[in-house]
Amino acid sequence: MAAKSEQAAFDLTIVADETAMGRLAADAVAETVARQPAAVISLPTGNTPLPLFAELVDRVGRGELDLSRVHLFCLDEYLGVAADDPNSLTGWLQQAVIGPAEFDPARVHTLPATDRDPAAAANRYEAELTALGGLDLAVLGIGPNGHVAYNEPGSAADSRTRVLELTQESIDQAAAYWRGSVTIPRRAMTVGVGTLLEANHLVLIAAGAGKAAIVRQALRDPMSAAVPASWLRLAGDRLAVVLDEAAARELG
Ligand code: PGA
Repeated sequence: MAAKSEQAAFDLTIVADETAMGRLAADAVAETVARQPAAVISLPTGNTPLPLFAELVDRVGRGELDLSRVHLFCLDEYLGVAADDPNSLTGWLQQAVIGPAEFDPARVHTLPATDRDPAAAANRYEAELTALGGLDLAVLGIGPNGHVAYNEPGSAADSRTRVLELTQESIDQAAAYWRGSVTIPRRAMTVGVGTLLEANHLVLIAAGAGKAAIVRQALRDPMSAAVPASWLRLAGDRLAVVLDEAAARELG
């Protein structure tokens, strides 16, 4: 494989707390939508984006932001789990931001995780994104094991939307969100790292001391499939990283 090198430095902003992090990420969404009301964007799941979602909902409520023409591409879903399943990532995103921030449901693109032929369906999802010109903005989180979307350790920089095995660590992390005594799927469908790297702008957000070590590995260690989020540095100056002080404390 050809050596991969960073094109230019990514933009790093360290803010006091997760509220400020959410505000900056919301600014990135607002700037994208101001330029292109029908922009194509992605938003992450998890605890990290909650301050961002609160800020988006506030701005929409105040009439400062209109997300109704935006195309939202979901980043990941458990294999075999339908979007309307209460345990789905899509359902979580629906409750957390799609509904409250008034996205148009007809412009929300959900992963075809229940398709009988997931590999072919994943290719169609890529084609759907390409047909709309690709992502204008990808807002991303980082998992405790360095995953980005659900690109688990081992994911290549040129990986595309596909099905993959989840690590036990990610399944344990997911358990906090699952209701009832159902078995958490061991596989997920995720947008690929290569797909994300084609976005016009990427914003990686992280908050809290619990993320400090993985943030250091992702941003300072040599890029590697062991920490898939490290590949985001290949985006060079199209990547903006927004951290709170706690998540940045090992960067030196
Ligand atoms: P978290 O999850 O925001 O809940 O830490 C991030 C992720 O797993 O990508």
